Amino acid sequence: MVFQVLSSLLLALTVGATSSALLPRIDASAPFNSSLFKDLNVTRGLNYHYYAVPADTGKPTLLFLHGYPSTSYDWRHQVAFFQDKGYGLVVPDMLGYGGTAKPLDPQLYVSSLVTKDIVDILDAEGIDKAVVISHDWGSKTGSRLANYFPERFHSYAFLAVGYLPATYFATPYDVNLNLTKAVLGYENYGYWDFFASDGADQIILDHLDSLFDIQYPNDTVKTITDWSPLGALEAFLKNDTRLPPVNYVTPEERAIQMEVLRQGGFAAPLNWYKVARGTFEMQDDKGIPQENELLQSPVFFATALRDYITLSAPVSLAAVLAFSNSTLTIREYDAGHWVQMEFKDEVNNDLLQWIESLGLGA
Ligand SMILES: *[C@@H]1O[C@H](CO)[C@@H](O)[C@H](O)[C@H]1NC(C)=O
Ligand SMILES: *[C@@H]1O[C@H](CO)[C@@H](O)[C@H](O)[C@H]1NC(C)=O
Ligand SMILES: *[C@@H]1O[C@H](CO)[C@@H](O)[C@H](O)[C@H]1NC(C)=O
Ligand SMILES: *[C@@H]1O[C@H](CO)[C@@H](O)[C@H](O)[C@H]1NC(C)=O
Ligand SMILES: *[C@@H]1O[C@H](CO)[C@@H](O)[C@H](O)[C@H]1NC(C)=O
Ligand SMILES: *[C@@H]1O[C@H](CO)[C@@H](O)[C@H](O)[C@H]1NC(C)=O
Repeated sequence: MVFQVLSSLLLALTVGATSSALLPRIDASAPFNSSLFKDLNVTRGLNYHYYAVPADTGKPTLLFLHGYPSTSYDWRHQVAFFQDKGYGLVVPDMLGYGGTAKPLDPQLYVSSLVTKDIVDILDAEGIDKAVVISHDWGSKTGSRLANYFPERFHSYAFLAVGYLPATYFATPYDVNLNLTKAVLGYENYGYWDFFASDGADQIILDHLDSLFDIQYPNDTVKTITDWSPLGALEAFLKNDTRLPPVNYVTPEERAIQMEVLRQGGFAAPLNWYKVARGTFEMQDDKGIPQENELLQSPVFFATALRDYITLSAPVSLAAVLAFSNSTLTIREYDAGHWVQMEFKDEVNNDLLQWIESLGLGA
């Protein structure tokens, strides 16, 4: 499988980025088993590509939802850990990424539609109830699964980004931006403005090494100056600024993830920001049944103490505390945003302990 990926990379280098449509699709390499990837044309006619491992008798299925900019490969350490233990796994490439459809209309990315796609996958796999484990924008989808389909889930784990209640998107972007400026001294969500702007996808593609450097920064304090504020990330990328790599992403892992994202482009993935920067998510969230805004099932929250982009500790922690009406398990990690990679062993063991404590049957 590693050989397969490497030959795809070589081919990509030889053929060049412009003919990317002709390249073979790159599925995530080990520990993923390439014969367990599937495709489903969901109800609304979009293809979803996902990794599916059936559960052993008596074990629940874990649904892993990645964020931006990523694919199912973000979950490599969790897949390696849980598939050996007999847990069922469903790990989709989210809308806009990897082998999944990449529509360009942002309105197709609102939560009521994406959650239905995910439930279509569970239906196709014959899974009545699952445990959700989500990260970054995946946590928005995890939150909305709890809001729209609570009967389909045993419990919810949120990593770095916690539960996002409807109120999160009810305030206009500009108001929130000014609020963060008033409180923090900089516009914490300024990068949403760049990501939602025309041409951002090409700027990112043209400076992908810089993006990956600042996305996985050794010193996460850098994101306060070079990622979050209005205009900062665009300037950082256009300058081709480079930073030293982190120790929790190997050069091979970085190359694999970069190539999949390069092939898919960023126009589709950035729609996750367009729905949040504009009013689509705000409008869509008005459909959340009020009685489902409080989480009535067990919640696990992994606080990433050094994640200054999402402000995991203060913002997400407050929300999971305020909106949980069931058992709440909070674990803190001295981690940046990618806590499932940086603290893989701790996160895996803590999730396992939490899942076992739920006493779930099949
Ligand atoms: C991959 O999955 C297939 C189908 O379940 C199975 O036959 C094969 O043994 C698996 N390969 C590995 C390396 O586990
Ligand atoms: C997916 O399903 C839609 C109808 O829901 C159909 O129009 C479309 O052709 C299907 N696409 C593929 C690739 O099968
Ligand atoms: C945000 O702050 C800017 C600069 O002070 C101001 O021009 C703008 O009107 C404010 N926007 C809102 C929605 O408060
Ligand atoms: C531009 O890149 C140079 C060299 O990497 C670096 O020293 C400088 O700080 C960068 N400027 C910005 C705005 O990122
Ligand atoms: C950051 O860099 C320091 C110094 O090279 C190193 O000791 C540390 O392990 C690195 N941390 C990460 C998360 O890469
Ligand atoms: C919270 O949970 C308790 C116990 O399950 C239940 O009786 C109560 O109605 C819930 N409160 C809300 C506001 O959902």
